[in-house]
Amino acid sequence: MFLAILTAIANVALASPTPQLYDSSNSIAALTGTANASAGPVLGNYYNYWTLRSNKTVYDLTRSDRMPVTSPKVIPMMASRKTAIIEPSRSALVIIDMQNFFLHPQLDPAATGGRKAVQPTLEMIDGFRANGMKVLWTNWGLDNFDLVTIPPSFLEGFSNDSTMATTFGSDMGTIKAANGSSIAVGRKLMRGSWNAQPWDKLYDAQVAGVASDTDLYFNKNRLSGLWGAQTPLGLYLQEHEITTLFFGGVNSDQCVWGTLLDAYCKGFDVVYVDDIAATVSPEAAAEMVRYNADLNGFVTNSTLVLSGLGM
Ligand SMILES: *[C@@H]1O[C@H](CO)[C@@H](O)[C@H](O)[C@H]1NC(C)=O
Ligand SMILES: *[C@@H]1O[C@H](CO)[C@@H](O)[C@H](O)[C@H]1NC(C)=O
Ligand SMILES: *[C@@H]1O[C@H](CO)[C@@H](O)[C@H](O)[C@H]1NC(C)=O
Ligand SMILES: *[C@@H]1O[C@H](CO)[C@@H](O)[C@H](O)[C@H]1NC(C)=O
Ligand SMILES: *[C@@H]1O[C@H](CO)[C@@H](O)[C@H](O)[C@H]1NC(C)=O
Repeated sequence: MFLAILTAIANVALASPTPQLYDSSNSIAALTGTANASAGPVLGNYYNYWTLRSNKTVYDLTRSDRMPVTSPKVIPMMASRKTAIIEPSRSALVIIDMQNFFLHPQLDPAATGGRKAVQPTLEMIDGFRANGMKVLWTNWGLDNFDLVTIPPSFLEGFSNDSTMATTFGSDMGTIKAANGSSIAVGRKLMRGSWNAQPWDKLYDAQVAGVASDTDLYFNKNRLSGLWGAQTPLGLYLQEHEITTLFFGGVNSDQCVWGTLLDAYCKGFDVVYVDDIAATVSPEAAAEMVRYNADLNGFVTNSTLVLSGLGM
């Protein structure tokens, strides 16, 4: 009896299939609404869109139909897309891995580019804070669960002799500070360890910023701070409806690139800030990042961003 009813329903369904809801741009507009295109062509829909203003030379990223605007800023860019208009309350600076492990001269002597990026990073931090834009420190900070679940490729990549004895979580011993005192370096890239703290003046900046609520600190356990279904950084961005991310840190082609690419895939506007990012990899790797960041979003530098922020 039930089978007969089910068969009858199936036959009716087959005889007159319901048109799919998503089969034309008209029905997408009916579901999502359209954005106001009077200022220029719109890419996207009411929920997530760019408006291309001034004969497609200015990218308006404010999504102002759906979300309130405060005092939008005009930011000059360096590559294909020349100018962006951003909404400060939905924009943030993501600083990746500027940690002792990657920057301290005794732990990574080769990281001269990363150390050079510190001063412009500090200036960007000031500019973002002055405009009410969040500074989001996103760093390696493993816990014991991560040590159980992190794959062999990572374990070898972060060991110095291809053994478990020197990879993530291994005790890195002590080094001598310039004043002669001894510093316990801590367990490799574990959260709370000295080697996982931001380097030098950046540490002071991070501590002060977190204390005064202008900055936030997120641990990550892979190259990307936005990998997989969700991460602490991803949850924060989603809950605060942040749409536009400026990126700096080390290494530009590894953790910065990994996070930028995941942000792009998840629908954020991505801005690569060239002089606050650096790498110890060959120059070709740095070029790859600039090339693809330009395709995926925007490339600029701290001078141009700070001028756009009125600093
Ligand atoms: C669309 O935006 C323009 C300004 O760019 C504004 O004058 C107009 O009122 C808007 N239209 C609607 C329907 O909101
Ligand atoms: C818009 O830009 C295109 C390509 O850059 C150019 O050919 C065209 O003259 C411009 N139109 C106006 C009205 O400025
Ligand atoms: C190798 O790793 C261990 C443990 O993390 C550390 O104590 C040691 O200094 C490292 N050696 C070199 C040459 O980097
Ligand atoms: C020596 O330098 C270390 C690292 O910079 C610092 O933590 C420590 O407070 C300094 N000690 C003295 C006595 O200045
Ligand atoms: C940023 O780019 C502008 C324009 O190309 C240039 O004048 C400026 O010197 C650059 N700043 C840095 C720090 O590279």
